[in-house]
Amino acid sequence: MGRFDGKVVLITGGARGQGRSHALRFAAEGADVAVLDVPARPPASVVYPLGSAEELAETAKAVEELGRRAVAITADVRDPAQLTDAVARTVDELGPLDFCLANAAVLSRGLIAEMDDQTWRDVIDVNLTGVFNTIRAVLPGMIEQRHGRIVATASLAARSGFPYLGHYAAAKWGVIGLVKTVALEVAQYGITVNAVLPTSVDTPMITSPEILRSMLPDVENPTREDAARAFGSSNAIPVPWVEPADVSGAMAYLCSDDARYVTGECLTVTAGAIARNSA
Ligand SMILES: NC(=O)c1ccc[n+]([C@@H]2O[C@H](COP(=O)([O-])OP(=O)(O)OC[C@H]3O[C@@H](n4cnc5c(N)ncnc54)[C@H](O)[C@@H]3O)[C@@H](O)[C@H]2O)c1
Repeated sequence: MGRFDGKVVLITGGARGQGRSHALRFAAEGADVAVLDVPARPPASVVYPLGSAEELAETAKAVEELGRRAVAITADVRDPAQLTDAVARTVDELGPLDFCLANAAVLSRGLIAEMDDQTWRDVIDVNLTGVFNTIRAVLPGMIEQRHGRIVATASLAARSGFPYLGHYAAAKWGVIGLVKTVALEVAQYGITVNAVLPTSVDTPMITSPEILRSMLPDVENPTREDAARAFGSSNAIPVPWVEPADVSGAMAYLCSDDARYVTGECLTVTAGAIARNSA
């Protein structure tokens, strides 16, 4: 018997990284899983490759290998119609949606004084409007069934200023405002809405060569080890980053019965970094 036997979860950004880890964690606990990813038109300002169709199919296959049903949905969280279709397909193929993890996002870097419109817009469109599109698409069904758990992925960058990540920090602070507001709006329907705020996580978002080069411009051909050294100092527990599975544990808790009265919360998974900069 798993905690999530008979439950259905929709995960955006599920092709790889944290989204894939969440898919496997929820499947291991008994849930059937819809994974959504692979925007047909990646944002122009994002320099690293996003999740691929092959990776999305691999996530679905890995869920099935755990004995659960999986649906792989190619869609873009920036497009509200694609989100509505994705929810309809999930309900059609797997059943009513119990949980939604709004996890998809992109990263780029730049000083606000020099940032072009496209770079700003791409991050806000995916990381904030994409979360809004996702939450709005799942709410009608959850309100009707008087039950649901929504968890959005924010970031440690939603708890302080972050030079070179002003657009990303603004979007993630926005996610928290959105989550807290929706939590109040839907509490009466038995729906909880929370955010998880990870420190750096070992995924392609921060370890792809293109991002490493932009983060460490003074290092020629920076490696993961160079990045590990650079990141290490910000966490209190001396690790450069946490693993995707560490964030999946927080996601699973917030969707479990143990968290039935936890809503409008920010659960940080920051290896202690949060202790330096937040009440
Ligand atoms: N990796 C980190 O250090 C870190 C730290 C804090 C928070 N986060 C957040 O964690 C979440 C997961 O990121 P990750 O670390 O797994 O990175 P990742 O790049 O490995 O995964 C993100 C996934 O989202 C997908 N995606 C991007 N834009 C999309 C769109 N428009 N429509 C559909 N899918 C789209 C990508 O294709 C990719 O598969 C994100 O919200 C990210 O901002 C990451």
